[in-house]
Amino acid sequence: MDIRIRAADPSDVQEASKLQRAVIPGDHPYEYARNILCSGTVNLVAIHKGTTIAGYISVLVGGLNPNGQHLWERLRPYLAFVGVLPDLQGQHVGAELIRRALQASDPRGASGMWLECPESAAGFYEKVGFVRVTSEAIEQYTGLTPRGPAYRLASKPLPG
Ligand SMILES: CC(C)(COP(=O)(O)OP(=O)(O)OC[C@H]1O[C@@H](n2cnc3c(N)ncnc32)[C@H](O)[C@@H]1OP(=O)(O)O)[C@@H](O)C(=O)NCCC(=O)NCCS
Repeated sequence: MDIRIRAADPSDVQEASKLQRAVIPGDHPYEYARNILCSGTVNLVAIHKGTTIAGYISVLVGGLNPNGQHLWERLRPYLAFVGVLPDLQGQHVGAELIRRALQASDPRGASGMWLECPESAAGFYEKVGFVRVTSEAIEQYTGLTPRGPAYRLASKPLPG
């Protein structure tokens, strides 16, 4: 498949937002593509055939808030969003976005990457190498109780 992954730039915001609407049903309170305009974030796009944004990933690397009320405020790097256009899913674009985002977010392999997700997405994250972290461990590490499954991806090559 003709896919090239590159850093997102401000001209990608509109199309990345459209992609989010295509993969997350209903109204979502936050438009993740706005992160492209924010410091302390890593944003990558997967470009299909040189033109279309087929995938978008956004990772929070700065702006840690140890007193925040959500896990996404207390863990870094934190995977905020990954999505692939429905027609192009199942062709390892998501897995490659995760691999490249981990390299960019944790270049020294020190901390890995964290996320909290709905149960429906857990299978994908496990497939690409994330390891589920128990609620007890998350509570001990952050002081917060996770609302859904919580995962950590260590900085090592992904399988496949
Ligand atoms: C989740 C998502 C990003 C995966 O992207 P993708 O490009 O389709 O995934 P990949 O092709 O890279 O999948 C990698 C592997 O995970 C598997 N996989 C993908 N989605 C899966 C799921 N929901 N459950 C279990 N396994 C899954 C694939 O079959 C593939 O396995 P393989 O290596 O044996 O072939 C994409 O399906 C998507 O955009 N979903 C809607 C948005 C979403 O749920 N985002 C994540 C939560 S915020």
